[in-house]
Amino acid sequence: MHIIIAGGCGFIGSNFVKMVVAKRPAWRVTVVDALTYAGNLANLADTGLDLAHAFAKGNISDNGFVERLFGGFPEPPECVVNFAAESHVDRSILGPRAFIETNILGAFNLLERVRLAGRGRFVQISTDEVYGSLGDEGKFTELTPLDPSSPYSASKASADLLVQAHHRTFGVDTVITRCSNNYGPYQFPEKLIPLMTINAMQGKELPVYGAGRNVRDWIHAEDHCRGILMAIERGRSGEVYNFGGESEMANIQIVERIADAVTGGRDLIRFVKDRPGHDWRYAMDITKVRDEMGWSPAVTFDDGLRATVEWYKEHRNWWQPILTGEYLTFYDQWYNNR
Ligand code: NAD
Ligand code: DAU
Repeated sequence: MHIIIAGGCGFIGSNFVKMVVAKRPAWRVTVVDALTYAGNLANLADTGLDLAHAFAKGNISDNGFVERLFGGFPEPPECVVNFAAESHVDRSILGPRAFIETNILGAFNLLERVRLAGRGRFVQISTDEVYGSLGDEGKFTELTPLDPSSPYSASKASADLLVQAHHRTFGVDTVITRCSNNYGPYQFPEKLIPLMTINAMQGKELPVYGAGRNVRDWIHAEDHCRGILMAIERGRSGEVYNFGGESEMANIQIVERIADAVTGGRDLIRFVKDRPGHDWRYAMDITKVRDEMGWSPAVTFDDGLRATVEWYKEHRNWWQPILTGEYLTFYDQWYNNR
């Protein structure tokens, strides 16, 4: 089995690469990644992979690159799993173009390679955000209509539709996974949990959007990756599978817990200007993966959050180099100048 893991140097992708190397040692792994601000080869340092052979640096929105990459394999890969994306909603508000190029065109380029090869499974890593926003009640099922709110989620929904079209029109063997908010080690500091943890460690303000009442469903990346492996091996062709942590929390509850754990107080919390188009609530109905694959989340939010905060405390050498030029510019633009 030869698996291409696009976006394997990012947060979830690198956790997935580690899981595959550990659980499927016979598989040949090729990681493809452009190493954008969010991609870091150091995330794969402890995988034992020979990166000189198992890593290809390149941009999936560059079809020439994708064509050359696939042309270089003696046989088409059995599986292409696509984690590669611009993934931060706030950045998609500041500058949507990269989201269209990577999340739509990039996904299409990979999908086309699988179609033209005439074999192999294409697995698209999508998100609950494609369904839009929930009120205080209800959950998203796989049949909930797509209704995205941000340029990020619109680009992810677009890719999902292309995947569906390639399955229906060309018979490409596809699976789409849609997951709720991930947390865990190696998450880029721009996202809620690492941002609040690192800011608290540095004595900086903790910027909570609006009143902090928006709700997200949190899942540990390890649980998500275990689900993706199941979807690759056991998912039915053409299907969509929802994954979620069954752990809904208002943002302020999380920020208070992090503040308590890191500083022992809540003085640093600030309520700031809301995100435009801010989805109110996400919640996933995971009946389908539970029934078809026997999957359910194993890491409780209490344990997972505690371990994650500890991980950031113990891995300053991972995040300190990231908090440099590009990140500081984004931070200033988003938090201080809009
Ligand atoms: P991330 O931003 O941490 O990582 C994205 C990776 O993709 C990086 O390594 C980056 O270098 C790479 N990349 C970006 N543009 C590329 C391009 N044009 N060509 C090649 N590589 C490129 O993202 P993440 O949080 O790990 O998310 C991974 C995937 O999972 C995304 O598709 C995202 O939409 C989806 N997802 C994320 C979450 C979440 O909570 N983080 C939840 C559900 C689904
Ligand atoms: O739901 C899955 C999605 O989860 C993924 O598809 C995205 O790639 C991922 O980034 C994440 O999107 P969110 O927008 O939900 O995650 P984020 O960590 O940016 O924000 C979580 C919540 O916290 C959201 O309601 C906005 C709020 N927030 C976030 C930041 C960064 C704040 O209040 N303050 C902040 O500084």
